[in-house]
Amino acid sequence: MKNILVTGGAGFIGSNFVRHVLGRAPGVQIVNLDLLTYAGSLENLVDLPNEANHSFIQGDIRDAVLVDQIFSDREIDTVVHFAAESHVDRSILGPMAFVETNIIGTVVLLEAAKNHWQGDLEGKRFHHVSTDEVFGSLGPGDPPFSEYTAYDPRSPYSASKASSDHMVRAYAHTYGLPISITNCTNNYGPYQYPEKLIPVIITNSLEGKPIPVYGDGKQIRDWLYVEDHCAAIWTVLVRGEVGQTYTVGGNNQPTNLEIIHQICEILDEQLPQSPYAPHKNLIQFVVDRPGHDRRYAMDISKISNHLGWQPKESLRTGLALTVDWYLQNLEWVNNFRSDAVYARWMDKNYGSR
Ligand code: NAD
Ligand code: DAU
Repeated sequence: MKNILVTGGAGFIGSNFVRHVLGRAPGVQIVNLDLLTYAGSLENLVDLPNEANHSFIQGDIRDAVLVDQIFSDREIDTVVHFAAESHVDRSILGPMAFVETNIIGTVVLLEAAKNHWQGDLEGKRFHHVSTDEVFGSLGPGDPPFSEYTAYDPRSPYSASKASSDHMVRAYAHTYGLPISITNCTNNYGPYQYPEKLIPVIITNSLEGKPIPVYGDGKQIRDWLYVEDHCAAIWTVLVRGEVGQTYTVGGNNQPTNLEIIHQICEILDEQLPQSPYAPHKNLIQFVVDRPGHDRRYAMDISKISNHLGWQPKESLRTGLALTVDWYLQNLEWVNNFRSDAVYARWMDKNYGSR
């Protein structure tokens, strides 16, 4: 790996990944291609280690001419593909952007990799970053998802990610493209846009706004600290086998209400003088998400046994690090552009936030 194209590297996980790689592999050059949608920001890329090894290009993964030029000019040998529309609620509001970016954008990248790498596949890799949501929803007694679980996506977001996974495997099968895929559970940690559950809990609590709980709050997710996810992807790039899929997760399955209570307790400890303590008083039950998946859980034995990867942070330590990061980075929180259309739609559908 010499020249890595990271797509979506100004978003939450992508920016953490860029920082992770630059801090560990000083010989690697990263080209970071990101459109800077509402979810991406150059503020996520401050203070990078080995900054000279990173160059940023604002552009669209659907732009085949641009992507082609990057492959030629920068002699790309590795792609780590994060760029996506990533929020389930937004996919319910408007699925088309998910089809265009997550499916068509992925195929544009696959085409470029196929065309530029044909005849010389040695040392090349197209790594696709995907989600556990492609597997659908588990019942209470079901075993966790694994690499062998059949696909059953249920939201426009997860259907678009499932479709992109299929295209990646189709390029491997049909054209011999050297690919790998990781399907990961819910991430949390620094630089997560405050529309996802954990940053919503923290940022609303700081302002004394309600913490919205969809439905009964007993839905279950498996949570992984973002740095652990970045380490898993790097491990797959370095030691993973070409053509393989690895499922990745944090080995925990709290209900949404349990996680909200844990964060409220951490906030109470860190901000005992807050006028909003105890923060659990801010919890407010709101209308449920349409088609809300009930439970996710992940079997991580393949990546653990074959590649020796394990999450380092427990849920408790990861949440403490995350709350701490948000408290230390209030300027980052305040600088985020608000999105009036989305805010109005959320108010109308889920009640006031
Ligand atoms: P994010 O929304 O924070 O970041 C997405 C980034 O992609 C943004 O910087 C955005 O500007 C960029 N982008 C969007 N459309 C683009 C386009 N057309 N061209 C170029 N750039 C574009 O998302 P995230 O939470 O960091 O997720 C990153 C990837 O990881 C996604 O593929 C997502 O499906 C996957 N994933 C996320 C999670 C999670 O919990 N967040 C879990 C598993 C997998
Ligand atoms: O599982 C991996 C997926 O996790 C990723 O592929 C997605 O990109 C990522 O957005 C995330 O999807 P979720 O829908 O699980 O995450 P979200 O943070 O939106 O919601 C987590 C749970 O919390 C879910 O059950 C819905 C609930 N929720 C969410 C919000 C934003 C609430 O109860 N209240 C809220 O305000």
